[in-house]
Amino acid sequence: MSAGRQEPQQGVEPVTVLRTAQEQEQELTQRKLREVMAQFATGITVLTARGRLAHGMTANAFTSVSLDPPMVLCCVGRTSRIHEAIIDADHFGVSVLSNEQEQVGRYFASRDRPSGMAQFERFPWFPGPHSGVPLLNGSLAWLECDLAEVYEGGDHSIFLGLVRSASRGTGRALLFLDGGFHQYDPPTAQSA
Ligand SMILES: Cc1cc2nc3c(=O)[nH]c(=O)nc-3n(C[C@H](O)[C@H](O)[C@H](O)COP(=O)(O)O)c2cc1C
Repeated sequence: MSAGRQEPQQGVEPVTVLRTAQEQEQELTQRKLREVMAQFATGITVLTARGRLAHGMTANAFTSVSLDPPMVLCCVGRTSRIHEAIIDADHFGVSVLSNEQEQVGRYFASRDRPSGMAQFERFPWFPGPHSGVPLLNGSLAWLECDLAEVYEGGDHSIFLGLVRSASRGTGRALLFLDGGFHQYDPPTAQSA
């Protein structure tokens, strides 16, 4: 018997031991990946969909993809309510949160908010000019997208959106870094 290696005991299935080790490794990878990705600072958005399953959800997995044609993507958990809502509505709205909207970001990530349009009563919003999708007042920027493609991405789906309207507001950014919300305060001419 080589050093450190244990022979399987009688009645113990070696395959069971192997599966448990794999499961442990997988858990470690998920935790590690969260920790590592938490070092990548992002903005924070609220994704919205109107229609039968109207819904809003805080998301930071959002990025620009193409200028011609204008496209963006967001990654949405397959078990989240907005997953079905976006597929059903065939569009999504994006509100890029400002540093005064931390409560908005927390609210649209909480499980206990009401379903449907009732959840939008808490914070003021306006209908997007292209699709009427709810867009949140006081945000830094807004986009409306038609759903162009849906790609499988493990336990998430990647929604590719064709941008139909884009506009910007004013203010400073709200950031997500190291698992927390941060208000971005750019240096002024005096402090730089
Ligand atoms: C800062 C922040 C960013 C998030 N980003 C995403 C994301 O990009 N995609 C995602 O599926 N969930 C993301 N979530 C989690 C969802 O907002 C949260 O799980 C939501 O309550 C679940 O969706 P539902 O309530 O629409 O079912 C994020 C949460 C926070 C607080």
